[in-house]
Amino acid sequence: MNEVIKCIKERRSIRNFLDKKIPKEIIEEIIEAGKYAPSAEDRQPWKFIVVTKKELIQELSNEIKKQIKRILDKKRKWKKKFKELEDERLVLFLKAIANSKEDVIFYNAPLVIFIICEDEIFNDESCACCAQNMMLSAWSMGIGSCWIGFAKFLEANEEVMERLEIPEGHHISACIVFGYPAKVPKATIRKPTFIKWF
Ligand SMILES: Cc1cc2nc3c(=O)[nH]c(=O)nc-3n(C[C@H](O)[C@H](O)[C@H](O)COP(=O)(O)O)c2cc1C
Repeated sequence: MNEVIKCIKERRSIRNFLDKKIPKEIIEEIIEAGKYAPSAEDRQPWKFIVVTKKELIQELSNEIKKQIKRILDKKRKWKKKFKELEDERLVLFLKAIANSKEDVIFYNAPLVIFIICEDEIFNDESCACCAQNMMLSAWSMGIGSCWIGFAKFLEANEEVMERLEIPEGHHISACIVFGYPAKVPKATIRKPTFIKWF
């Protein structure tokens, strides 16, 4: 199988990492691969916030749990914005995350990268392409990753946004954890998809 397709098909989200740092040159290589993604109008809107400090990662993880708790405490209000909160199973899952003592947000990863961009049309799509380039290039070098959608909850705390030096008019477009895999899940079964040929 062609190497690129092999990498695409074999990549899995990794949630168990070895306690081993990723060398700076490798982090730079992953970011560089991200920058080669396509982007609307070739705007290349991505900016990167690289976090390797363990204490800061822990702090951000706790902050996300705090935000999830805040939403669950005012479920009635938030249901208007997030219809998903009507789903009791999801609510139970969120409660378990918010109350966990473990780092169930960033999975004790040694590296968290936030991809931020200005609030402009198609910037998120461009950043998602960048994120996928980063995850695939990491995988090709034996490094696992996982996109952390929960990181979006950090946007609710202005102080944290300032602490991460995310400029005004910008938002967190993607957040990915990286690390050397301690456990790799089995290959996924991809669902049959609707494909219409003309
Ligand atoms: C937009 C997005 C948000 C995600 N958020 C999370 C997350 O917060 N936590 C997590 O563990 N996985 C998260 N994931 C990873 C998915 O759960 C994972 O990609 C999916 O289960 C398929 O598994 P695979 O990546 O191994 O193919 C996210 C993935 C995407 C694309």
